[in-house]
Amino acid sequence: MNIKRQVPSTSFFDISKGPLWQNTTASRNINESIQENFYIYSEKQKIYKIKTLYLQGHFIFKKKKNGQNQIADILNATICEIELPFYGAGIRIIKAGQIIEIYGMTITWLQQLRFYCIQQDFANKYSIIRLLGKGTFGKVFKIKSRITQQDFAVKVFEKKAISNYQDYLLITKELQIIRSLNHPGITKFFETYENDEHIFLIYEMVEQGELYTFIKEKHLSEEEALLILKQLLQSLLYIHSKGILHRDLKPSNLLLRDRNTLSIAIADFGLAEFYRVDGKYIFTRCGTPGYVAPEVLQDKIYDYKIDIYSAGVILFMMLSGGKSPFNSTDPEEKLYQNYKSLIDYSLVSNISEATYNLLQSMLEPDNIKRISARAALNHQVFRNKRTSKCSIMIKKTPRSIDKITNPRVIINTNNNLDKYLQLSPKLQNLSSKPQNNMKQEAIRRGYQKMQTFSHRSPQLSPLQSQTKFEPFP
Ligand SMILES: Nc1ncnc2c1ncn2[C@@H]1O[C@H](COP(=O)(O)OP(=O)(O)OP(=O)(O)O)[C@@H](O)[C@H]1O
Ligand SMILES: [Mg+2]
Repeated sequence: MNIKRQVPSTSFFDISKGPLWQNTTASRNINESIQENFYIYSEKQKIYKIKTLYLQGHFIFKKKKNGQNQIADILNATICEIELPFYGAGIRIIKAGQIIEIYGMTITWLQQLRFYCIQQDFANKYSIIRLLGKGTFGKVFKIKSRITQQDFAVKVFEKKAISNYQDYLLITKELQIIRSLNHPGITKFFETYENDEHIFLIYEMVEQGELYTFIKEKHLSEEEALLILKQLLQSLLYIHSKGILHRDLKPSNLLLRDRNTLSIAIADFGLAEFYRVDGKYIFTRCGTPGYVAPEVLQDKIYDYKIDIYSAGVILFMMLSGGKSPFNSTDPEEKLYQNYKSLIDYSLVSNISEATYNLLQSMLEPDNIKRISARAALNHQVFRNKRTSKCSIMIKKTPRSIDKITNPRVIINTNNNLDKYLQLSPKLQNLSSKPQNNMKQEAIRRGYQKMQTFSHRSPQLSPLQSQTKFEPFP
């Protein structure tokens, strides 16, 4: 049998070089692996031989007769199902121009490989039902499995819209992060496909729409808002314990599983990152104006607390019938309110003192003083059933930003990215307007952020911009 051993890599994900099989001295706990005997083609002897292989996560491990062990990292390799007369069903795994072909009992291996690798037959497996939403690179559709008839959601990226290394990193980082998360409060990821034009990320279908639409339709009670917040905090505790920051929490990225039980799931890990103490992220400036923590707009080093601030904005909106804590109708003003964390608490004046206290702790401008997910879950609102109504005097938001003296009165905008893009010419002309220096600086910085958020292509640090990346010359 003449099988071509070297293949040119056409996968968007395959940028690796070097031999797929590497010698290893690292001992692996074989008990934790999926072990299977497969027929594998022996280059030397030109025959198929039975070999025991071990699959652990995205690593295949094999023992050689000479005592030397070998390991292959098949993360983001392209896989396809194949068949040979006599040897039966098989899997072809392609990475860095090299192939591993295995024949035998492939079912359990396929289940795991689908999670870590890339498939190419999306159109054979799924039919598209309807559009659910539009994103920066592409669209999200409801789809149906042609095999099981089960519904899923697919996030489709257009390859032609991915023009540089940063965009490549955004997609691969989203994939890396969603593969590492498994929690009821997070949309479940299943598998990845690609064809010549598109990349497809398959998620569970969360049926009941965005929290954004829900809170605009229905004024939630304080208890309902707290029920949703508790789930959000539990998911954040889990995400943060994994060393991950979401960085784009907002009501349109929270999906309702059930409108009666108010169960929710966090979606869209497109801007998520692994926490770094030095704050040197590939994309430092990101989020959505109106939801983002002030330290992000202020270009300060940030940590997990940015997600708590955004969760605070979400709580505010749930308590205020969908109104933003940054209440200005002027987008520049709103951005400044966000920058300075100037929140108009008069919009949530009818809440209990305990809830008001939690809301304030989450929207605390100083991230050191801001409450953590764990501490918030221990807050008295989640311990006491009933608390007294808020008796705190809430100052009215001043009409003019120049009159702002009280730092408690503050913030936010819920404009989407497109609206921000439209704003850009106006913001560019700001310098002609008489502004105080602080405000000008806030708007200048905020405007830089808006560009960043809109295009998702911030400046790389000198170190990163030196990174060589061949698929996108
Ligand atoms: N698993 C899902 N189930 C149901 N609807 C979903 C799911 N995932 C996404 N959606 C819908 O599609 C919209 C867009 O998805 P998502 O937030 O992941 O991408 P995006 O924010 O538009 O993209 P980007 O952040 O890259 O611009 C969501 O706001 C939601 O309405
Ligand atoms: Mg989104």
